[in-house]
Amino acid sequence: MKNFRIICKEEIAPEIKRMVVSAPIIARKAKPGQFVILKVDEYGERFPLTLVDWNAEEGTITLIFQEVGVSTKKLGRLNAGDYIEDVAGPLGNPTEIKYYGRVAVVGGGVATGLIYPWVRALKKFGNHVTTIIGARTASLLLMEKELSELSDEIYISTDDGSKGVKGFTSDVLKMLLEKGEKFDLVMAAGPVPMMRAVAEVTRPYGIKTIVSLNPIMVDGTGMCGCCRVTVGGKRRFACVDGPDFDAHQVDFRELMNRLRMYVEEEKAALQRMEES
Ligand code: FAD
Ligand code: FES
Ligand code: MG
Repeated sequence: MKNFRIICKEEIAPEIKRMVVSAPIIARKAKPGQFVILKVDEYGERFPLTLVDWNAEEGTITLIFQEVGVSTKKLGRLNAGDYIEDVAGPLGNPTEIKYYGRVAVVGGGVATGLIYPWVRALKKFGNHVTTIIGARTASLLLMEKELSELSDEIYISTDDGSKGVKGFTSDVLKMLLEKGEKFDLVMAAGPVPMMRAVAEVTRPYGIKTIVSLNPIMVDGTGMCGCCRVTVGGKRRFACVDGPDFDAHQVDFRELMNRLRMYVEEEKAALQRMEES
C-alpha cells in the first residue's frame, strides 16, 4: 500500500514546484535543517529534498523543488491525489537552533526553502534575524512574503538586477558588514559557489558561519559513501555528520567536483526520458 499521497501541488516559479505530501510520521518528527529521501516510482532513483515545512496535526510535509533532471521532472509531473512511491525521513541532524543574538541567514535559489524553518526557529529563540535572499532573476525569488513576515530585516539580490541589489547575496552580506553591522552567526544555504562566497566574506571578520551542504546522496544513512565531503581535512558524510558544517572548514572545490561526477549520465538519462 502506498502512503505518501500528494495533497497539493503548485508552481511557485518557473520550473519550481511546491508540494504538500501526506507523511504523518515524518511530520511529527521533523526539525529545521532535516531532509527526506524520495523515490518517485518503483524504478526511480533515490534523491534528497529538504523539509521546508511540516504540520504534525495534519500529518503533512512541504517540499519545494526545482525540476533539473529525470527524478525532479518525474516528481513534478505528479498531481494532487497521486502517490509518491517512497519518502524516507526525517534524515540528517537538525540544525542547532538557540539564542545566538544577531544572526544573518542567507538563502540562494531553491535552497531559500531550507532557510524558512531556520528563520522561524531562530525567531522563536528571540534572535534578531537579518535575512538575505537571492536568485538569478526576480521571477525565481522564493518565499519573499513568508520570510519578510518572519525576519527583522530582509534584503534581496538578483544576478540581473531585476529586483533588489544587482549582484549576489554574498555582496549584500559584504555591504552590511562593511557598513558596520555585527552578526554573531551567519547561516547559509544555496548553490555551492554562493556558500563558498559567503564563507570568504565572513572569514576575515571571524564570524562563525554554518552552511547546509548538498552533495549527492543515495541512502541517506551513512552507508553508501556518496555524500562524502572534506571538512577541516577530515572525511565526513553529510547525511549523518551534517548536513550543517563550519563553512570556513569545508573543501568547496571537492564538493563542486563531486556534484558534477555523473553529469554525462544525467544528461543522457534526461534525453532518454524526453524521447520516450
Ligand atoms: P539529475 O539530472 O540526476 O541531477 C542534476 C544535478 O543534481 C546533478 O548534476 C547533481 O549535482 C545533483 N544530484 C543528482 N542526483 C543527486 C542526489 N541523489 N543527491 C543530491 N544531488 C543530486 N533540490 C531542490 O530542488 N529542493 C530541495 O529542497 C533540495 N534539498 C536538498 C537537500 C539535500 C540534503 C541535498 C543533498 C540536495 C537537495 N536538493 C534539493 C538537490 C536535489 O537532490 C537534486 O536537485 C536532485 O537530486 C536532482 O535529481 P534529478 O534526477 O532531477 O537531476
Ligand atoms: Fe550514503 Fe550519505 S548518502 S553515506
Ligand atoms: Mg537523477
